Amino acid sequence: MEKPVWTDSVQEIARHPLEHLDYFMEWGTEAWQHLMSHALENFLGTNLKGQHVLEIGSRYGRMACLFALLGGKVIGLDLNKASLSVAQREAKKWNVTERTAFVQGGKDLSILKDNSFDVVFSKSVLVLVPGLGHFLEEVNAKLKPGGKIVFLENAKGPWFVHLLRTFRHREWDYTKARYFTSEEIRVVSAIFDGVTVRKHSFPPVVLMLGHKRS
Ligand SMILES: C[S@@+](CC[C@H](N)C(=O)[O-])C[C@H]1O[C@@H](n2cnc3c(N)ncnc32)[C@H](O)[C@@H]1O
Repeated sequence: MEKPVWTDSVQEIARHPLEHLDYFMEWGTEAWQHLMSHALENFLGTNLKGQHVLEIGSRYGRMACLFALLGGKVIGLDLNKASLSVAQREAKKWNVTERTAFVQGGKDLSILKDNSFDVVFSKSVLVLVPGLGHFLEEVNAKLKPGGKIVFLENAKGPWFVHLLRTFRHREWDYTKARYFTSEEIRVVSAIFDGVTVRKHSFPPVVLMLGHKRS
């Protein structure tokens, strides 16, 4: 069930959005929030004023709105057209429509200018992208020199965790579930500069931070 963030006023939350990271991250355990807090506090910073942020797979727009509340100018891309209107409503709620644009797309990134983003963020999307290496080369091209990547993904984890997940979520068709593998982490590390990988072991979640390849 959605947490009752509206007990505070919207304006109050907008002033301190990082205190409501659970709302903006929308779903996931504390592991996801913990890794995202690390990315914000130790890598991105919490003041994105003037920075151009691209979110790939922005879906309902909450993270894009968080980046806008931190001062960024955000483009949220999603393949799913229906999600865009929800994201636009979210932007209205936070009064960040002038700093956000939600656009259908993402199969390839040719609609975006090269060297134009300070930050590319993605959460639980890369695992769905076919031809990951090629796609990430495009992401690299869109970053400005020195630009940053922040990727968060469900990781596979050891066999017993996989078994436990299969049991806990037995109502899902688990043959279709996908997790980010060590091989995919190596692909990210090979494409961007100085990639650091931080993992949470249970549930297995992986955070990848890095820079445009120089
Ligand atoms: C599992 S959802 C995650 C959504 C959101 N990032 C979140 O964490 O709630 C995956 C989303 O990525 C979108 N998606 C998948 N591949 C994409 C791509 N290549 N470009 C843009 N969006 C993509 C899907 O339409 C879907 O909305």
